[in-house]
Amino acid sequence: MTMPSQVKIVEVGPRDGLQNEKQFIEASDKIALIDMLADAGLDYVESGSFVSPKWVPQMATSSDVFKGISRKNGVTYAALTPNMKGFEAAIESGADEVAIFGAASEAFSQKNINCSIAESLERFAPVMTAAKEHGLKVRGYVSCVVGCPYDGFIEPEKVAEVAEQLYNMGCYEISLGDTIGVGTAATVQNMLQAVSKRVPMDKLAVHFHDTYGQALTNIYTALQMGISTVDAAVAGLGGCPYAKGASGNVASEDVVYLLNGLGIETGIDFDKLLAAGWFISDKLGREPVSKVSTAFRAQQ
Ligand code: HMG
Ligand code: MG
Repeated sequence: MTMPSQVKIVEVGPRDGLQNEKQFIEASDKIALIDMLADAGLDYVESGSFVSPKWVPQMATSSDVFKGISRKNGVTYAALTPNMKGFEAAIESGADEVAIFGAASEAFSQKNINCSIAESLERFAPVMTAAKEHGLKVRGYVSCVVGCPYDGFIEPEKVAEVAEQLYNMGCYEISLGDTIGVGTAATVQNMLQAVSKRVPMDKLAVHFHDTYGQALTNIYTALQMGISTVDAAVAGLGGCPYAKGASGNVASEDVVYLLNGLGIETGIDFDKLLAAGWFISDKLGREPVSKVSTAFRAQQ
């Protein structure tokens, strides 16, 4: 058992969290959220995506968002970019880092980015080249690492194959996404075992949606296997527009509470994180999807 002494949290709330919201969220509210998250000590905030506004309307204001952030030293403000058009927009908007996003499932790849897995890698290649020219690091995502809403169970070997391809293309880290949250401790362990044979464990991150309430258990399993980068969204925001029924990401508040309890360093001010979650939840007119957050609010 190799529990890390430090864990890096990749805050995806402003992107993964908000992308599926039907109600229009003002760019100013997204900016305020990102600034609160950075102030809470999150040093990596995925702040938007440069994708087709016809596909994901909520992210259409990403350029305004990036330009409006009060930059904090030491914080990486990252963006999703599926192709060169998105990459160019990300550069123009001042994104510090970009992420390309593929899938271990053919059907999900088609529904999400309108191409096969092989075609997606071809589209990513020029993004990798351009990012290198601009001195930008690229993160790689693999979706549907345990199950797919269209294809069902996904073989760990397929996940390992796509993760390895993204890693060999030059992604510095591969985030493994359980897009529909179907994973359990056993399936996640099998998947991580397979992937870590091809990509070093310290280059992997986990990205859990909490649809079936398994995210924290799965994170604990991943930590025991040596994972030390965890994606999460404040207030448990989220859901993927191309994964019907997928609920939010695991809440950052819940992850930090777990890590604090384990004595694992995150560098995050818990009270400020709670406040950021309450801020955006109030804007959305609902309670945070985080038992930890609800419990602390009840005590105030
Ligand atoms: P396409 O239709 O195949 O692309 O879509 P195209 O190149 O043929 O272009 C079609 C139109 O889109 C054109 O506009 C392009 O200009 C425009 P038109 O001439 O029709 O007016 N276009 C763009 N506009 C803005 N930014 C761009 C861009 N590219 C083309 N970058 C495309 C392909 C990838 C663009 C499309 O399928 C798309 O935008 N999909 C959205 C995917 C997405 O954002 N999904 C959610 C994020 S992934 C996720 O949540 C999973 C993750 O969290 C991990 C996990 O949980 O598993 C990461
Ligand atoms: Mg996601």
